[in-house]
Amino acid sequence: MKHLYKRHFLRLLDFSNTELENIIILSEKLKKIKKNNQEIQLLKKKNIALIFEKESTRTRCSFEVAAFDQGAHVTYLGPGSTHFGTKESIEDTAKVLSRLYDGIEYRGHDHSVIETLSKHSNVPVWNGLTDKFHPTQIIADLLTMKEVFKKKQFFEIKCAYIGDSHNNIANTLLEAASILGIDLRLISPKPYWPEKNILNECQNKAKNTSKITCTENIKEGVKDVDFIYTDVWVSMGEPETTWKEKIVLLKNYQVNQNMINMTNNPNVKVLHCLPALHDKKNTLAKSILKEYNLQDGIEITDNIFQKNEQIIFEQAENRLHTIKAILISSLIKKINLK
Ligand code: CP
Ligand code: NVA
Repeated sequence: MKHLYKRHFLRLLDFSNTELENIIILSEKLKKIKKNNQEIQLLKKKNIALIFEKESTRTRCSFEVAAFDQGAHVTYLGPGSTHFGTKESIEDTAKVLSRLYDGIEYRGHDHSVIETLSKHSNVPVWNGLTDKFHPTQIIADLLTMKEVFKKKQFFEIKCAYIGDSHNNIANTLLEAASILGIDLRLISPKPYWPEKNILNECQNKAKNTSKITCTENIKEGVKDVDFIYTDVWVSMGEPETTWKEKIVLLKNYQVNQNMINMTNNPNVKVLHCLPALHDKKNTLAKSILKEYNLQDGIEITDNIFQKNEQIIFEQAENRLHTIKAILISSLIKKINLK
């Protein structure tokens, strides 16, 4: 996997079809190795910095466990714990960290920050989520899709993403679809379609542009799909007040039984990157459900979430195996897992 060696991992459009497929193949191998309790530590003596300017459960824990499994050490730098961008420029921080560490993970707000960080870093920078992209998430989703359809190629898969198509998950899914030839339908009210420039970049990359569709029409969009993918309607960093306008426009785009019936596919699977607002067991969902007088979940009903629980939590576990594959591919020139 020399192609990823020493490269930054900021967005999927920087990679080829073969490079993405190779990460997934390596992830599958690493998952099997871990399940068989046969971990081979390729990252001994490597030091990894984890910068998180936003909260995280899956991404942080997956980076940490992947690093520990592989014999590397991590330093977690949480919100407000460094001088990053406040008392010290991103450039200077990048220069300092790349003298101390072998790689830097960054989760933050504006995507331009990770671009500046990577420009001034001599070691690989991995995107752990920005306002624009969430590439480590989508690699895990691709592995999950592949596990469901062992015999299907990505270009044979049909996926509908429904809800806020203007966010990091939709953008990254769009990139993956354009590279791998997935039939992707982004289903949202027009104000929540992806930015024109991202859509154009992806459509230029796609071999068959007709396989990427933006539509407001749920019935047309979900027809015959293998997967329905959804995400929270208000992403981290968006103001609380956004809920009001989003609920009005997105309430008909909830993943529920009626939508599942419209797919015409009794085996359709539902994906969610998590966290999901499907029940009242967290303070945010509780207050939004109460304030807007909603009864059953927000972007997804509890019933549909429960029915798809197995695949959704497999998606979450796959964050570990895929992040491990990305770390190894970026830091090790010759990968020997024998
Ligand atoms: N899906 C995901 O990135 O989850 P966290 O915010 O918990 O990292
Ligand atoms: N769109 C979501 C993804 C969370 C994993 C957010 O940015 O909050």
